[in-house]
Amino acid sequence: MKICIFYFSGTGNTEIITNLLQKELNNLNADVIVMKIETIIKKKIKVKTEKYDLIGIGYPIHAFNAPKIVYDFVHQLEFDEGKKAFTFRSSGDPFLNGGSTKMLRNKLEEKGFDVFNENLSIMPTNVFLQFKDNLNKQLYQLAQIRIKKLAQDILEKKIHLQKNSIILTIISKLFSFMETTGAKWLGKYIKISDSCKKCFKCVRNCPTGNIIVIDDGGDDGGDATIKFDRSCNLCMRCIYECPTNAIHFRYFRFFEIKQGYNIKPIISNPNIKGDYLSSNTKGFFKHYADFFGL
Ligand SMILES: Cc1cc2nc3c(=O)[nH]c(=O)nc-3n(C[C@H](O)[C@H](O)[C@H](O)COP(=O)(O)O)c2cc1C
Repeated sequence: MKICIFYFSGTGNTEIITNLLQKELNNLNADVIVMKIETIIKKKIKVKTEKYDLIGIGYPIHAFNAPKIVYDFVHQLEFDEGKKAFTFRSSGDPFLNGGSTKMLRNKLEEKGFDVFNENLSIMPTNVFLQFKDNLNKQLYQLAQIRIKKLAQDILEKKIHLQKNSIILTIISKLFSFMETTGAKWLGKYIKISDSCKKCFKCVRNCPTGNIIVIDDGGDDGGDATIKFDRSCNLCMRCIYECPTNAIHFRYFRFFEIKQGYNIKPIISNPNIKGDYLSSNTKGFFKHYADFFGL
């Protein structure tokens, strides 16, 4: 079976889930191609979904919905009547299932796709809260188990569609609208401190090309100024990946995790155990334990 997975990931969580899914599908003898949504959009690649038996779309939850870049991608897809599609998303909290899946499903259906499976992975949150390392590790380990099962379900074309109540859809639309509108404004007013070394990593890596270099005439880039435009998706990548920690929101700085966010060293460190959640977990994280059936 030939599968193409398209994904967007701001800070790596959805990318990790995508890679796990590709590995598990490969283990089950599926032929899987993975493509980054941001590359497709930046390079204006014409995607031909008819070449594949199945397509998958992976995304992080941003305010109960998929980020705008994912909708931009779906918008540019060509009509492919009856093509089976699945979606998977990563959120930082199981609250309200990360939001409604109805809006994205509807958009895919308008393009002729037959969405049969929608999956949610809980990964560490990349905003507001710094989770403990052993919780981050455990969320990754639990995701690994669930993705193994998802790979089987996808190949069996198991139907698993989230029930989206009207209330959930309204909440999701409302929050998502506020987030998308706020992103343009918050993204425009991101500021760069004097510790910036003008390496332009942020410019190269911004998924929406929102970070622009204004050349002030110098030969070595030293006189260049970095500006932010109005197409920010609030993915947080520029803030967390800046080598000199020079990029921050001007307003709503509490949105950033102070210590930054990078799950990769936690995953690869064998000394960090994934032993935070259990059946005895009480307080805020009890709903996490419940989500995983611990
Ligand atoms: C702008 C923004 C909004 C978010 N909104 C939610 C949310 O509504 N619910 C939630 O559980 N997590 C939310 N998160 C957390 C992310 O969904 C979560 O950390 C995700 O795994 C990040 O994936 P990525 O690393 O692939 O970007 C939000 C993150 C960002 C940056």
